[in-house]
Amino acid sequence: MTSGTTESATVNTSADLVVVANRLPVDLQTLPDGSSRWKRSPGGLVTALEPTLRAREGAWVGWPGVPDVDAEPFVEGGLSLHPVRLSAGEIEEYYEGFSNGTLWPLYHDVVATPAFHRHWWRAYTRVNERFAEAVAEVAAPGGTVWVQDYQLQLVPGKLRELRPDLKIGFFLHIPFPPVELFRQLPWRTRIMEGLLGADLVGFHTEGGVRNFHWLATELTGAMPDRDPEVVRVGDRQVRLGAFPISIDSTTLDTLARTDTVVKRAAEIREELGNPGRIILGVDRLDYTKGIDVRLRAYHELLEEERITVDDAVVIQLATPSRERVEHYRQMRDDIELSVGRINGEYARVGHPAVHYLHQSLPREELTAFYLAADVMLVTPLRDGMNLVAKEYVACRPDERGVLVLSEFAGAANELTSALLVNPHDTDGVKEALHAALTMNDAEAGKRMRTLRRQVLDHDVDHWARSFLGALGVPVPDDQGQA
Ligand code: ADP
Ligand code: G6P
Repeated sequence: MTSGTTESATVNTSADLVVVANRLPVDLQTLPDGSSRWKRSPGGLVTALEPTLRAREGAWVGWPGVPDVDAEPFVEGGLSLHPVRLSAGEIEEYYEGFSNGTLWPLYHDVVATPAFHRHWWRAYTRVNERFAEAVAEVAAPGGTVWVQDYQLQLVPGKLRELRPDLKIGFFLHIPFPPVELFRQLPWRTRIMEGLLGADLVGFHTEGGVRNFHWLATELTGAMPDRDPEVVRVGDRQVRLGAFPISIDSTTLDTLARTDTVVKRAAEIREELGNPGRIILGVDRLDYTKGIDVRLRAYHELLEEERITVDDAVVIQLATPSRERVEHYRQMRDDIELSVGRINGEYARVGHPAVHYLHQSLPREELTAFYLAADVMLVTPLRDGMNLVAKEYVACRPDERGVLVLSEFAGAANELTSALLVNPHDTDGVKEALHAALTMNDAEAGKRMRTLRRQVLDHDVDHWARSFLGALGVPVPDDQGQA
């Protein structure tokens, strides 16, 4: 049942629960001296799934983040990781191309223009088949496979052909688009058929369920059922559902209460020269995140002299992301130009207006930034959920801080006590930012308490239990009883 060992544990090659995602939760990094190490992968998918799967001792199948690597399966923190090899050409056509040049912009309301290329589609098909084959090797007879996200939409269908004994769930971490946009996709029917290979297809919102239901019955032979959250495919039932994802809120809440983090948050404020207010943005550097929107709002408040740099500074933490994709390069240049402009006009020596870090920070340090921030700006033009918004709330056991949140993030459905904004409306964002900067403690505390109840009661474990429960997988309770 096992093969390949690391120092202390054996790799599970017949797992009852297998997660398959484009990326493993760790990326292989080569250091300047030629040695290599595993480093946590970017993005919300990994943040959410890692604690969930660790608790369940499952296996994870995914790409190790670099081209042409044939890595053996290994164990990391109790999790069996099974790397899938991608060539440099496949990364270009399947990952940067079809996944992030076609699907990502199409599913995010065409915020950027999607490109449709037949050779990208062929690579996507080929790589999805490879992932399905890798999973078929690892899953125990009658086991459960949980397929993740837009990069792997053909995996459920292929896997069902290879292993009809498996229970297959699929969860989409990004928005499922409006039907008119989805219908632009030349391979729309193949994608729908791929997804309908699953027993359960999950989305963040009910809107995703409705759009998928309509497309399934219009584009494929799937039939509606009396239950609006079911479609029938031959003699099978495919269940649909909304499962808003979340974070490991208790762990973050606990971390934010530690002396180290509290002390570091105070240091950050000190290092910034004790400004009146600290405004924070934390994102992967992605054009969907509306980083430009919030910089514009801040810039205009300075121009209109409604605030000064002594009143409020901005910290923008941006994880490098998809740096070889053209839209991302262009956006990075634009943002760095804006940061330069604002600082050029309003900074003083030793006192920048915007502190911009194009870096990924360790969890503890990030928690200290959340705790130090008086205002959190989360302004995506479209976002499946946005975990950063929930992380900010979980990191505020002091019940201080104001969250400004885009209506177009999935999180806005739950975090209704945030200051909700339309990111396309610069004046609206500017007014909300000003209101957040000047909000009295009583009102801010009241809002934060409501937000915290939501985030602490609906954590990532709750999400995983709901999904796996709907898939008919026995979910152990806190005492480990099935
Ligand atoms: P996405 O999944 O699109 O990247 P989310 O907001 O859902 O967006 O998740 C982003 C995740 O990446 C969060 O867990 C957040 O803490 C993490 N993250 C974003 N920027 C940074 C950064 N600069 N340093 C460390 N972690 C970051
Ligand atoms: C989002 C997507 C994930 C993806 C992550 C990081 O969270 O939903 O599927 O892994 O961004 O993006 P990357 O392209 O670096 O994997």
